[in-house]
Amino acid sequence: MGNGQGRLGFEDFNLKPELLKGLQEAGLNSASAIQQQSLLAIFAGKSLLAKATNGSGRTEAFVIALLEKCHSTKNAIQGLVLVPTRELALQTSNVLGLLGKHMDMKYIVAKGGTSIRDDLVRLSGEVHILIATPGRLLDLAHEDACNLSRCQLIVMDEADRFFCPELLPILEDIVQFLPSQRRQFLMYSATYPSAMVHFKNCHLTDVHEVNFKEQLTLNGVSQFYICVEENRKVFCLTKALSTFQINQVIIFCNSVTRVKLLARKMTHLGYPCLFFHPGLFQSERQQVLQDAWSGACQSMVCSSHFMRGIETESVNVVINFDFPRGPQTYLHRTGRFSRLGLAISFVTQRDRIDLLRLQKAMGTKILPMPAAIDPVLYT
Ligand SMILES: *[C@@H]1O[C@H](CO)[C@@H](O)[C@H](O)[C@H]1NC(C)=O
Repeated sequence: MGNGQGRLGFEDFNLKPELLKGLQEAGLNSASAIQQQSLLAIFAGKSLLAKATNGSGRTEAFVIALLEKCHSTKNAIQGLVLVPTRELALQTSNVLGLLGKHMDMKYIVAKGGTSIRDDLVRLSGEVHILIATPGRLLDLAHEDACNLSRCQLIVMDEADRFFCPELLPILEDIVQFLPSQRRQFLMYSATYPSAMVHFKNCHLTDVHEVNFKEQLTLNGVSQFYICVEENRKVFCLTKALSTFQINQVIIFCNSVTRVKLLARKMTHLGYPCLFFHPGLFQSERQQVLQDAWSGACQSMVCSSHFMRGIETESVNVVINFDFPRGPQTYLHRTGRFSRLGLAISFVTQRDRIDLLRLQKAMGTKILPMPAAIDPVLYT
């Protein structure tokens, strides 16, 4: 479908064999653009500042860099991942566990909201990679619980979120605990606040800057619509879920109420669905994402704005149960596949005009759903 072109395979990077094995088992063969750039940067001893949103495979990108760069034979924290939220911390540790399955890398997650005692205990053992939220990390560093003097690879995911007035001083403090020489930063950020530019100028040397912002794209997405009336949508969805070869599917509704109702209905009908919307409590969100990432449940119903920072790497099908209101929403919902994807939109009589408008605005073709879809298009 044209989006595999120009990509290097992971075997071209001369990675550690046990890392390559983990990648292959996870189905990762060709490196996405951000993965390529991240690897090239760390091999060249540079730092990376990448403007990137979701769906570009950035978690995998820095996890691969960490697993390649750190050595399980060296008893020291060599890699640090700073994350703004607990969700991202867990997501990162999941990907580390998956891709590093055949490696002996020891990593721990240290995040606020849990007992610092547990962290202290775990840090007294061997740790190679530390995933942490900034506040907790600083507490640990001040306690002399983690020696960061040999930590040469520092990842900041959703980096722009650290450059707020509350976190910036913490970040500056953390830098004092890092080695002053030969350290590399991998920073991934949706925007470049001026505080971040300042930080870069002060603390980073030899920076490679790339912009992946345009990763929100419909390239590689096969887009279809199905004409269906409101009262047949649920039936149509059950059919779709049992027909497609789904790795992970996100089903979008236009309101939180509809999200909840649909998830309940589908689960009741024997199609277990998680649901996710910004109104959930922290603990609930965590549980939902945990279940989704661990593969415990492959369907997730979401409200229109899928939250920022949520990894969608394993998603290969998106269903617009409710037709999106406007092209931007459509793009946000369906433009985040890292590889190939299938986007199906349910279109009621009322939505028809919006469907035409959307195609015109996006300069894209959304075709009527054919009798069968070749899995090659999205698996
Ligand atoms: C951290 O480790 C380095 C070498 O591994 C050592 O020289 C240094 O004294 C340690 N720092 C602390 C505070 O323990």
